[in-house]
Amino acid sequence: MSSNKEAIEKFRSIPKLSLSNLGTLIERCERLSMIYPELPNVYIKRDDFIGSLVWGNKLRKLEYALAEAKAHNADTIITCGSIHSNHARITGQVCRRLELDCILVQNGDKPESPSGNALINKMLDIPIHYVSSPDERQPKMDEIADELEAAGHTVYQIPLGASNATGSLGFVAAVEELVEQQQKMDIRFNAIIHACSSGGTQAGLEVGKRLFGLDKLQIYGISADNSAEKIKETIAGITYPIINRLGFREKMCEEDLHVDDSYVGEGYGIPTELSSKVTRQFLQIEGIMLDPTYTAKAAAGLVDYSRRGKFKSTDNVLFWHTGGLLNLL
Ligand SMILES: Cc1ncc(COP(=O)(O)O)c(C=O)c1O
Repeated sequence: MSSNKEAIEKFRSIPKLSLSNLGTLIERCERLSMIYPELPNVYIKRDDFIGSLVWGNKLRKLEYALAEAKAHNADTIITCGSIHSNHARITGQVCRRLELDCILVQNGDKPESPSGNALINKMLDIPIHYVSSPDERQPKMDEIADELEAAGHTVYQIPLGASNATGSLGFVAAVEELVEQQQKMDIRFNAIIHACSSGGTQAGLEVGKRLFGLDKLQIYGISADNSAEKIKETIAGITYPIINRLGFREKMCEEDLHVDDSYVGEGYGIPTELSSKVTRQFLQIEGIMLDPTYTAKAAAGLVDYSRRGKFKSTDNVLFWHTGGLLNLL
């Protein structure tokens, strides 16, 4: 850890906003092993309690992204996602509190009777530009930004999921939080398992693990949609600039990353037999809600990995609940 001292100091000096209830609880899930005796010691990191109404992993990333936007004196934030995007809705909601204008670019058709995140976006009265495919999001964001800048606005763009070298710092900070919690709980986690998609969460965790010396910690990202290959490439692309910025020596190859796309099933947001079953079990046995798009697939991965003997029975495995519960509605 001492060799990274300067990098840690540099990391701590990066500006961030305080938007969430950090130090989210870590709870033990003992009851699940009654039905899955092969489970290791499962704990859950409750980022679903990270802030009232704005639950989830995205808030950690926005603390850095929006601090940077403020430092640039931005008056308008543009971001994107699918019409069900948690990130897009959370960004809109937080921008209201920060008195920033927010514009969303979303792929999909304008919903006739919006629900979940789309309903909150409507209630927030946020301008939304609909495009027909994910590839059209960035060009549309650039077009809107150009128009606004020509009219005298200062625009700050946040990429999909705030998954870049700025937003992902939120998950470097999450590892620092975890280090403190491990010490307080007198426990060491062998593995983290979490849902991934745009890769920023895992990118931050991977950098944080190396920065704070958790060398033995395994990080498993369970994809909600994209191929493992694509996500690994994105993660690597996010981690290099962070490592360079912090100036610590670290080799990280795509081969070191564990990303698994075998629990996606038929696609984004479509439950699988196992994800539906595990969702019911988490709720009925542990009282914990999972969302169908992300956390249910990650929980299916946790159960299946355990059945396949990936963990030792004595391993402490942290299931990182990344939120997303509005998609249930
Ligand atoms: C609830 C939830 N969990 C997990 C993820 C995946 O995180 P990331 O995009 O950083 O890989 C997302 C967003 O895509 C999400 O909304």
